[in-house]
Amino acid sequence: MKKLVIMAALFAFVGAGVAIAADSYTYENSKGNITFDHKAHQERVAGDCAKCHEGTPAKIAVNKEFGHTTCKNCHKEMNGPTKCNDCHKK
Ligand code: HEC
Ligand code: HEC
Ligand code: HEC
Repeated sequence: MKKLVIMAALFAFVGAGVAIAADSYTYENSKGNITFDHKAHQERVAGDCAKCHEGTPAKIAVNKEFGHTTCKNCHKEMNGPTKCNDCHKK
């Protein structure tokens, strides 16, 4: 019985440590701010997190390199927006 209680407590602790992504993220940028709708993108890839995340999904440092390769390359493949102003909004 005591073991069970400890297990439950551990479970709750681990559970609380799991990161939950926000619905959307905005990156302030000199070229124009970029809004990334995480929730819409999850639906677009039918829940295939590996399209963007390696291993267990966690925070990604979104920088110019990521934006202009990972983001843009998929947009080219899937007919997403590829023009500067499609992503960078003034
Ligand atoms: C189209 C790309 C893409 C897809 C698909 C995607 N993610 Fe993400 N995810 C990101 C990016 C980019 C970030 C980083 C956002 C930031 O912090 O700037 C992120 C962040 C996260 C984080 C970290 C949140 C935080 O603030 O610590 C979690 C957790 C996460 N995603 C879970 C998922 C799961 C689960 C799936 C699949 C169901 C998924 N993601 C699919 C791009 C994606
Ligand atoms: C795995 C493929 C994939 C990746 C990776 C991806 N996108 Fe997209 N994104 C799409 C598709 C497909 C659309 C177009 C959906 C439509 O027009 O119906 C889209 C649309 C958008 C739009 C238009 C607004 C919207 O959400 O509908 C923006 C802005 C955008 N993406 C930004 C980003 C950024 C920034 C990243 C990287 C952090 C990113 N995307 C990564 C597939 C992707
Ligand atoms: C698919 C979306 C997307 C498209 C299309 C795109 N960018 Fe970006 N760009 C990004 C992301 C994401 C970043 C990194 C955001 C950040 O870290 O602030 C970025 C960063 C930049 C930066 C760095 C600015 C700074 O303050 O560090 C410049 C400059 C830039 N982009 C110019 C362009 C130009 C010019 C085009 C068109 C030829 C373009 N981008 C098209 C998503 C995109």
